[in-house]
Amino acid sequence: MRSNHLEVRPLASAVGAEIGGVDLSADLPDGLIADLKGALARHGVIVFRDQILSEDQHIAAARRFGDININRFFATADGHPEIALVVKEPEQTVNIGGGWHTDHSYDAEPALGSMLFAREVPPIGGDTMFASMYAAYDALSDGLKETLSGMRAVHSSRHVFGTVREGLKGRIGNAELATQDAVHPVTIVHPESGLKALYVNPGFTVRFDGWTVEESAPLLGYLYRHAARPEFTCRLQWRNGSLAFWDNRSTWHYALNDYQGERRLMHRITIEGGPLH
Ligand code: SIN
Repeated sequence: MRSNHLEVRPLASAVGAEIGGVDLSADLPDGLIADLKGALARHGVIVFRDQILSEDQHIAAARRFGDININRFFATADGHPEIALVVKEPEQTVNIGGGWHTDHSYDAEPALGSMLFAREVPPIGGDTMFASMYAAYDALSDGLKETLSGMRAVHSSRHVFGTVREGLKGRIGNAELATQDAVHPVTIVHPESGLKALYVNPGFTVRFDGWTVEESAPLLGYLYRHAARPEFTCRLQWRNGSLAFWDNRSTWHYALNDYQGERRLMHRITIEGGPLH
């Protein structure tokens, strides 16, 4: 992977790195974009600090990494359907993304990742946790790796977006579009890094393919507890102007909801991915 020309400071041993010296509003050379793709594939989430980005500049930066997925459930920024709003107002108590999940695993071709830009963060709290599914996979026993290698799992959007929770009305909608189910391998080979990753998540995976929900629950429960082990995670403290770009194929994320009475406004652009194997 070509990340040797970048200023890369890992956030933890398993996942996450801060990238220095990159201004995402600039017209970045192709070589640097290739290095950033390499750093993303390796670290799972890359973080850029002190960025000053208009909506159009955020969109232009995202387009360097792939086509943009127009989100069908989230409210979007005025005049910019490419930008999903991840917002919580001071009077709202429910946040978006407040549990471990991988975005879009319910799609047949799950999104590559998202670029989340912090426009207004609370003075304390509102951090995001990330977990490495490379590390989770690596730490499984050979026996369980072998068992999982032949298995597939069913992922769904219905139970999450099919009924909009009272506390999310106005921010999440289009419940009638929550018709997606998809079946993916339980362990995948990451398309860029070639590394193996665990690919089930508590947000959207409903059962193993060919198994009932009840039969699946004990093994899925074990995998979820295992994958969320603290040593596989990092915790990102946001500042206004921070941008995190995470890889949905190799990480989970979890938005902490510990800032009641404060506003948090993030702009999210999701990049299209491809089939998983
Ligand atoms: C998300 O799950 O996409 C939101 C993450 C966050 O707000 O930190």
